[in-house]
Amino acid sequence: MITRRALFAGGVSLGMSAALGVTPARAARRAPISDPFQLGVASGEPTPDGVVLWTRLAMNPIALDGRGGMPDRPVTVEWQLAEDENFRKIVRSGAETALPESAHSVHVELEGLRPGAEYFYRFKAANELSLVGRTLTAPAPGTRTRALNLSFTSCADYQAGWFTPYRRMAEDEPDLIAFLGDYIYEYGDYKYPVRDQAGGECLDLAGYRLRHAQHKADPETQMAHAIAPWVVVWDDHDIENAWAGDVPEQPDPPFLERRAAAFQAYYENMPLRRAQKPDGAYLHLYRSIRWGAVANLHLLDTRQYRDLYACTGKSGTVGPDCMERFEPNRTILGSEQESWLDKELKDSAATWDLLGQQVFFMEMDWTNGEGKGYSNEGWDGYVASRNRLTAAIDTYKRNAVVLTGDVHSHWAGEVKRDYQDPESKSVAVELVTTSVTSAGDGLDEYPDTTVLLQENPHVKFFNGRRGYVRTRITESEMKVDFRSLARVTEPYAPAYTSGSFVIEPGDPTLNPA
Ligand SMILES: [Fe+2]
Repeated sequence: MITRRALFAGGVSLGMSAALGVTPARAARRAPISDPFQLGVASGEPTPDGVVLWTRLAMNPIALDGRGGMPDRPVTVEWQLAEDENFRKIVRSGAETALPESAHSVHVELEGLRPGAEYFYRFKAANELSLVGRTLTAPAPGTRTRALNLSFTSCADYQAGWFTPYRRMAEDEPDLIAFLGDYIYEYGDYKYPVRDQAGGECLDLAGYRLRHAQHKADPETQMAHAIAPWVVVWDDHDIENAWAGDVPEQPDPPFLERRAAAFQAYYENMPLRRAQKPDGAYLHLYRSIRWGAVANLHLLDTRQYRDLYACTGKSGTVGPDCMERFEPNRTILGSEQESWLDKELKDSAATWDLLGQQVFFMEMDWTNGEGKGYSNEGWDGYVASRNRLTAAIDTYKRNAVVLTGDVHSHWAGEVKRDYQDPESKSVAVELVTTSVTSAGDGLDEYPDTTVLLQENPHVKFFNGRRGYVRTRITESEMKVDFRSLARVTEPYAPAYTSGSFVIEPGDPTLNPA
């Protein structure tokens, strides 16, 4: 006889054991009904001597009030950090208070750890242990010998499919995972979802908290967080489709209230530092992560400070063209962030400067055949901003690689000083990751792919499946594998490499590997 309890435990443990299947020794435990750790664990923001450990308690992740089925009172959460996954060599431990006003989230900011080291961590509350996470500190400043194995992806739409790309990314055991936006989608229910979500469109704090909790309760999301530290930036759907600065797509609810709710839930649910704690509708997201002297990863926010969309005053993937795109005062980063980034590049002594950001950076004519069409949501809508950044990369002689999300397909290309001049030199490389699930299974190529590549000769590669990008970065080269999956509408698809490139310092071109 199948009891309700067995069904429940079976349902949960299927996910949990699948999540732990990659690293079975890392936590062989079953989730009981009262398990407060159903959202898993995460770490992020590594420095040479520290990292952030994160968890959020929830006994019922899909409680519609967004409170995760937690009581309306503080809960003590203990944590441990060890050098081994069996916790024989515990190097730090402590306790935090998870507060209902922070959705029972916990952010532990560690300092004084060894540089370039692997650690394991776990939490304990209400006599239950969390699963075990693995994390890393960054190498000591100046260190050139330690490679950076960085994977990045974007756009995880729960209703669009299974998060198998997260599983495949975790299996590679990278050193660092960068997420480039659309970690959640604020949308209401689809007519034909691959997976049903709880709650409707995210409009308030309860809605965003619930959506984040549903994602964190996903076992494949948990695998990817448990394997390595993450660095995250948002794009539009973490808040609302196509928002630009203080201007929403929809007037209701009042946008700054909605944005404040989305920002609060974003902070609560991500392994971010206190420096990224929101102040109402404002959150300082741009920052740099340093990986010894091998790489600086500059994480940009192209949403919060951008001017309105050119030519239309609102968003559109490909808008009508007009001279406003070239207006010299237009900015996608805002002047403060632009100055900060200029200084980061000027002062950088790393071999590589990686720019983790949201939207297409290279010029891209999206119109197949006659005529031209540019996205006014990407940097094509902010040409002067792009020219200033491209010039800075060139002037300071940085080996820059732009890492991009948003478009739900893999692309690779070369950033030019002048896209109209076929002889114009390449100044940087751009790697655009596809989505985790957004847009469904996709195809390797579309009927217009060949023509699009021909009409944009600086663009060298396309793949239209779901997946992630895997890189191995050393002082002598950056190796890039575009990883693709045949499907996400059914679980467990394997990943394959749809394109491989090598980039060498001093030569911002894409070389087939
Ligand atoms: Fe997206």
